[in-house]
Amino acid sequence: MGKATAELFSAEGAKLVLSGRNQERGTKLSDQLPHSIFVAGDVKDTDYNKALVSAAIENFGKIDVICLNAGMLGLGNVVDLSDVLWNETLATNLTSIFSLSKFAIPHLQKEKGNILINASIAAFKSFPNHPAYCASKAGAVALMKQMAVEYAPDIRVNAICPGPVDTPLLYNSAQAFKNPESAVENAAKATLLNRLGTPEDIAKLALFLVSDDSSWITGTAMTIDGGIINS
Ligand SMILES: NC(=O)c1ccc[n+]([C@@H]2O[C@H](COP(=O)([O-])OP(=O)(O)OC[C@H]3O[C@@H](n4cnc5c(N)ncnc54)[C@H](OP(=O)(O)O)[C@@H]3O)[C@@H](O)[C@H]2O)c1
Repeated sequence: MGKATAELFSAEGAKLVLSGRNQERGTKLSDQLPHSIFVAGDVKDTDYNKALVSAAIENFGKIDVICLNAGMLGLGNVVDLSDVLWNETLATNLTSIFSLSKFAIPHLQKEKGNILINASIAAFKSFPNHPAYCASKAGAVALMKQMAVEYAPDIRVNAICPGPVDTPLLYNSAQAFKNPESAVENAAKATLLNRLGTPEDIAKLALFLVSDDSSWITGTAMTIDGGIINS
């Protein structure tokens, strides 16, 4: 989803600082996108989040938008899940939002910018063996609302809450269900629109939510899930 969003934003003329741990994948993408740089690192690391903001200012002079997309599953039920995996999941999915926002907000205030968080329908709905994931995504939505209030009217803050989207993370998530081999197919069938989402579906909503077309939207957790939450 991050890649599809970067590609769409780039096609609209955005200058991008791309983030991720995988140097090869990140460099390959930044080589394809004009006016983009890749800074490798881990969003669990406060100094890395600070460095991402510095890289944006040094290279492009300002920050209009931050997209907080990094995520992991941290699968396992409450009894079996280790403290280490619980903490890693919360750090990746929730604390990283606090951390990058902390460094970016002073710059976003100057530009009347946007914070966009990739949460999940897991913020509202439970999934088996996903306690850390569900808790972190509910926390992300709560933090989104808090920042929307705190930094209005200068910064708009919104969250996208996808249902099952065709990415590697979805197939990993299937391992936590009773019938892993049919879980992805079952998820597609459980949507009202009878298909998985694509990363491009999410990128289009992301573009809308950071553009002036959504200039009266803030503090919203928008589901984009083929209707699965109502099925
Ligand atoms: N797929 C779904 O069905 C679904 C549904 C709802 C919500 N979501 C959410 O959507 C977001 C994107 O997920 P996806 O499905 O596109 O998953 P994905 O294909 O596994 O991509 C995850 C991305 O996050 C980056 N990342 C993960 N941990 C990181 C870390 N510690 N530091 C820096 N970057 C990190 C990964 O890059 P590197 O590997 O290079 O670090 C990768 O670019 C996640 O927040 C996920 O929870 C997904």
